[in-house]
Amino acid sequence: MQLVAVDELRNGMVLAQDVISDTFVNIVSESTVVTNEIVEKLMNLGIDFVYVQSEMVSPEENTLYKTEPKFDRTDSNEALNYNFNKTVNKIKNIFNDLKFGVADIKKEMDGTLEPLLDGILINNDILKNLRLMKYDDDYTLKHSVNVGLLSAMIGKWIGLTKKEIADLSLAGTLHDVGKSKVPRYIINKPGELSAQEYGIAQLHAQYSYEILSESHGFSVEICNAVKYHHERFNGSGYPEGLKGKTIPLYARIIAVADVFDALTADKVYQRKISPFLAADIIKNMSFGELDPEITNIFLKKISEFYVGNKVLLNTGEEGEIVYLNKFDITKPLVKVNEKFLDLATKSDIQIKEVL
Ligand SMILES: [Fe+2]
Repeated sequence: MQLVAVDELRNGMVLAQDVISDTFVNIVSESTVVTNEIVEKLMNLGIDFVYVQSEMVSPEENTLYKTEPKFDRTDSNEALNYNFNKTVNKIKNIFNDLKFGVADIKKEMDGTLEPLLDGILINNDILKNLRLMKYDDDYTLKHSVNVGLLSAMIGKWIGLTKKEIADLSLAGTLHDVGKSKVPRYIINKPGELSAQEYGIAQLHAQYSYEILSESHGFSVEICNAVKYHHERFNGSGYPEGLKGKTIPLYARIIAVADVFDALTADKVYQRKISPFLAADIIKNMSFGELDPEITNIFLKKISEFYVGNKVLLNTGEEGEIVYLNKFDITKPLVKVNEKFLDLATKSDIQIKEVL
């Protein structure tokens, strides 16, 4: 039996004693196998330490999928969802292992992303695919895989080779592994971080770099991509304040994917915003923070997927996107009933939601 900080609990550990609250209520019973939900519950109740058994449940018992299913097509929804969840679970294992100091990341990731990328890269409609992915767990985990996939799509759109796309996607998927070294209360804090907390949170980029460089098997390009994913085109980012194209290409791509997914994801404490509003924000960021060429290609490509889509406007009306405005991608022409609304000329009307 050993005493472990709740922050350091790992899925599969088994509680060695009942956890009792200050008011003598049994919160979690002895022999309970630790899951993310249990950790969350303990943290919410302000429990800092618990006793766990020395032996862990074998990883096999905890594995979500025991046998590999066969799919007719790699881009079917079923295949995509299976491969997506499998990848998220791999990231989860990596994060859990890293809390204990060691993770064989290369081994864990080997062969994981390929089937998912095969499915995603055949079918360009990345946003629809990401919307369909169901994974109810930690935001950071799902976000990691989303960024890996969005980065891969951008890589394809700017003409990278298959090998480069695979490396870029791996870097995108692992860009935030350094968050495993940042206290959880800072990562999950709703609302603003204090200056000191922000300083600590920023260290995750450097940590991601250190973790991958010490892991063996990751190229310099991949290590640098994670290190510099928070650098900004105008030099306002961290950790080094690099500017323009001195920021490695993969890092510039991951930055666009990272910002877009962070804006459109549903987080516990922040409701997602519509992809069109996100696109607007990103467009503004392309005049300083994000690489303008990459951002323009990204916005143009993702907007194309929305032609024909039903949307909800801030006026409460539902419409359909019929045409993209070449000069203002984020403000398309929308058909509402029998009338056409050109959002480029109606600044008070916005797309609130894609239906
Ligand atoms: Fe990050």
